[in-house]
Amino acid sequence: MCGIMGYIGAKPSERIIVEGLRKLEYRGYDSAGIAVCTDSGMKVVKAKGRIKELENRLNGHDLATGTVGIGHTRWATHGKPSDENSHPHTDGQMKVSVVHNGIIENYMELKKELEETGVRFVSETDTEVISHLIASEYEGDIVRAVQRATARMRGAYALAVLSEQEPDKLIAARLHSPLIIGLGDGEHFIGSDIPAILEHTRDVYILDDGEMAVLTRDAVELMTIEGNPIAKEPFRVNWDLAVAEKDGFDHFMLKEIHEQPRAYRDTIGNRLLGAYPWVHLPELTLTPERIRLFRRVHIVACGTAYHAGLVGKQALERWARIPAEADVASEYRYRSPLVAEDTLVIVVSQSGETADTLAALREAKRQGAHVIAITNVVGSSVAREADDVLFTMAGPEISVASTKAYSTQLLAFYILALHMARARRSLPDEEFAPIVEALRKLPEQAEQALKQAEEIRSYAEEISHHRHLFFLGRGMDYAVAQEGSLKLKEISYIHSEAYAAGELKHGTLALIEEGTPVVALATQPELYEKTVSNIREVMARGATVLGIASPSGSRGDANLASRVDRVLTIPDTHPMLTPALSVIPLQLLAYYASTALGYDVDKPRNLAKSVTVE
Ligand code: F6R
Repeated sequence: MCGIMGYIGAKPSERIIVEGLRKLEYRGYDSAGIAVCTDSGMKVVKAKGRIKELENRLNGHDLATGTVGIGHTRWATHGKPSDENSHPHTDGQMKVSVVHNGIIENYMELKKELEETGVRFVSETDTEVISHLIASEYEGDIVRAVQRATARMRGAYALAVLSEQEPDKLIAARLHSPLIIGLGDGEHFIGSDIPAILEHTRDVYILDDGEMAVLTRDAVELMTIEGNPIAKEPFRVNWDLAVAEKDGFDHFMLKEIHEQPRAYRDTIGNRLLGAYPWVHLPELTLTPERIRLFRRVHIVACGTAYHAGLVGKQALERWARIPAEADVASEYRYRSPLVAEDTLVIVVSQSGETADTLAALREAKRQGAHVIAITNVVGSSVAREADDVLFTMAGPEISVASTKAYSTQLLAFYILALHMARARRSLPDEEFAPIVEALRKLPEQAEQALKQAEEIRSYAEEISHHRHLFFLGRGMDYAVAQEGSLKLKEISYIHSEAYAAGELKHGTLALIEEGTPVVALATQPELYEKTVSNIREVMARGATVLGIASPSGSRGDANLASRVDRVLTIPDTHPMLTPALSVIPLQLLAYYASTALGYDVDKPRNLAKSVTVE
């Protein structure tokens, strides 16, 4: 939610900042802006819309002498997308400019107070309060001014601050919103995350909550926001920029869908070895004894990660025989969940920075639960605050619509559920071994599933003209249907609903009419006949049905093919593992529906990749 970039060095900062913002555009693209200290003072240029709008506007400005600056790409929270509400915000005198990610909860109170002293506000944002506050606290030392201002602010912020009076410094501060510092040679960087600065350096400091950094060309000084010096080790990034680039695909989403076989291989890694006990999770501190003491599991996450949790819940209950619930993080804290020391809380987050998930994690820890994080980002807040972490090895996910992060979260859940089943002695070896075997085959089978792309493209083109669509399934298929529906909605803007196939007739069946497209998943052998009955119910009302089958789950392809309008078959696997394969055609369906309609797949309207506000 909003991307921040800062540079101090010997090179002109404009290009470096704009390029950095381009890598952060997935965090928000309502507007963009840049502030640079040039020989003739501080210059601020900003524009509503994408980075290219900012670039057009920058053509009319000469910022070449500026070697220190900050930039921002915005996802609107307070105030509509507009030039005025774009960051950077200044104090009106152009003495201080600020870019901000987060929300200042007491901004109305601070704004009123500042207005009483004669300050005039030009935007509707909470961020403008910060720039005025810093200016009003300035008594010749910008670091102290930022410290005094942040002491008065409540809420969440990642900040980069530039001062015209002290143009050889950049200030960064963090509370509940991510911020990193890149360490170069004679130059330093501020970024919301690693891809923004990876072209320049691999050595970064990850700021923790309540920390700030003062960057000059030659040094980075770290301290708490109260001003107490701190020391920390830089973190060395070991992945390549290439994995964060498109690699010949038209969109990041398509590239990330195609990376799933590799991501599966990496997530399995050494966690499933050849012989008994098969599953190895040395990264967990939990002992088998402790695992046996847990009485319940709460899975907490948002959006797509929550959908992975719905699959995880079923795997934990079936294999580890432990009661598991999955909750949307924004609801979890407010429903007074029963959490105690015998509760295992599993938080799932691709970014590791989602505000609601992080808040749930903190609440669970406060109540004494043991927290395992399933996350994709090393060094993220969730990874650092959880008691244990299982990293998914999806690699950086840039497209706003999550694909490979979801499917690797499924794998992490499967492996964790097996690990817990082993500790709880709840799954006999003769059932355990075939599941491990089936998991090992998933990377190769994911490759096969991707081969159906052309068929899915033609179906996607057909359904792209419809306004509504339904996804149906039972059990594991229902969990995946929910993810398929979200994917379609978020990038093609076609309204869709996922329904438990048996529940449709209790009301929603009324919406089915002649020609309504329905995607029906029927991969679960135990539920196959019942699902087919539900498919018949919608077909009798005129629906056209695409069936997603699995050879053994659907008792032979031909069987389902004779009953629906068309069928896609996923490779054969263990019934509990089908989501890792059946989600692939659903991701491709959403992708091709979006491209058929000419939408910007990687940057769907109104959304952002990392949601760091509650
Ligand atoms: C949808 C999507 C979102 C995220 C959700 C949680 O494609 O990506 O629903 O899954 O915002 O994000 P993380 O996993 O970063 O906590």
